[in-house]
Amino acid sequence: MGSGNGDNVPLFGYALPHKKSNNSDAPPRYKSVALIIGVTGIVGNSLAEILPLSDTPGGLWKVYGVARRPRPAWTSSNYPVEYIQCDILDAQQSHAKLSKLTDVTHVFYVTWANMHEEAENCKVNADMLRNVLNAIIPNAPNLQHICLQTGRKHYIGPFDLFGKIKSHEPPFHEDLLRLEVPNFYYSLEDVLFEEVKKKEGLKWSIHRPGTVFGFSPFSLMNIVGSLCVYAAICKHEGTVLRFPGSRAAWEGYCDASDADLVAEHQIWAAVDPNAKNEAFNCSNGDVFKWKHLWKVLAEQFGVQCGEFDEKFKLSLQEMMKNKGPVWEEIVREKGLVPTKLEDVGAWWFVDVVLGSQTLLDSMNKSKEYGFVGFRNSKTSFHYWICKMRTHGIVP
Ligand SMILES: NC(=O)c1ccc[n+]([C@@H]2O[C@H](COP(=O)([O-])OP(=O)(O)OC[C@H]3O[C@@H](n4cnc5c(N)ncnc54)[C@H](OP(=O)(O)O)[C@@H]3O)[C@@H](O)[C@H]2O)c1
Repeated sequence: MGSGNGDNVPLFGYALPHKKSNNSDAPPRYKSVALIIGVTGIVGNSLAEILPLSDTPGGLWKVYGVARRPRPAWTSSNYPVEYIQCDILDAQQSHAKLSKLTDVTHVFYVTWANMHEEAENCKVNADMLRNVLNAIIPNAPNLQHICLQTGRKHYIGPFDLFGKIKSHEPPFHEDLLRLEVPNFYYSLEDVLFEEVKKKEGLKWSIHRPGTVFGFSPFSLMNIVGSLCVYAAICKHEGTVLRFPGSRAAWEGYCDASDADLVAEHQIWAAVDPNAKNEAFNCSNGDVFKWKHLWKVLAEQFGVQCGEFDEKFKLSLQEMMKNKGPVWEEIVREKGLVPTKLEDVGAWWFVDVVLGSQTLLDSMNKSKEYGFVGFRNSKTSFHYWICKMRTHGIVP
């Protein structure tokens, strides 16, 4: 079962009422072939789990998955993905490894590089996408659709300009014009628009989630995973789970994007003729307050729940600066999957999300085009905490 509420409830609107694996002995008869770029990432992992299921729309799917590191042990055992180690920033390597995948019908692009400044982000991320599309588009004759994942920074600008520029006013909707600042999401869109022209009939969709709740110890931005690690450290040290954020985040309405929902949204756009050549926001469709999720986190790790307190100006990046050895001790003592603190704790990201104004988007366009999937964000938060535990990433 996924991050929904129960097996018999048709939660997902368009996509999956429940997850069935393909257990038959007969050789699979594939209808579609997916290439997930960033397969071990926070949404890549959800796509890799959902696409091969026998009742996934557009299926039966054969799935290729790309990332740089070797396939990690935490990828689930029923994850029938042909894993390809490839650095897509390297044009030659991308061509050598990806041009061979001549049966690909759909590309799911769920990766990125985080450079020091946005101008560099624009160049590097555009190169990465171009390298993939240059290898695939001329060589995959049945290629039909490319899903590009960007995000809500489309409406508010890059991280380094947060609070420094006038951004759009929430709730954000897809028709808002681009901001007049560099943004690697715009560069990715431009590469996409330019590349799809090279193959007649090739369709695309752009997916803009907000903060993603999901599972991946390899993600550059995993808020649930990072908070689990923080809570485990508080438990180990016997300290209160203080809230390292603003009053706005503690008390205001926030939203999130469940990684399974984002995957379902992309699969919907990949196979539904209504959703072609459009950009869509993708969030859970409800609101929550961090003060309520904070209680869930504290309960799950058996720690005293802190409150927002004006007196403390807390930064997780500061608080976790010297905690590498503590994490090593926890991993050793509890027999967890070996991870480095810097890989599982994206402290800068938590500081940004919890330290800023709360932002909401609109899911009206997705609904009007036929995607009525949703998630209960509190259930989703709890689900991904449990998944971190089940996979032995946190105690
Ligand atoms: N995470 C969020 O909360 C969030 C929210 C809104 C929008 N977004 C946006 O969503 C997009 C995708 O981000 P994500 O968070 O889903 O990704 P992610 O969790 O950080 O995962 C990135 C994936 O790409 C792989 N990868 C990275 N560099 C690569 C390279 N050069 N060649 C091949 N594989 C590479 C990584 O594995 P290896 O490191 O092993 O290569 C990993 O599998 C980004 O534009 C991001 O800004 C994310």
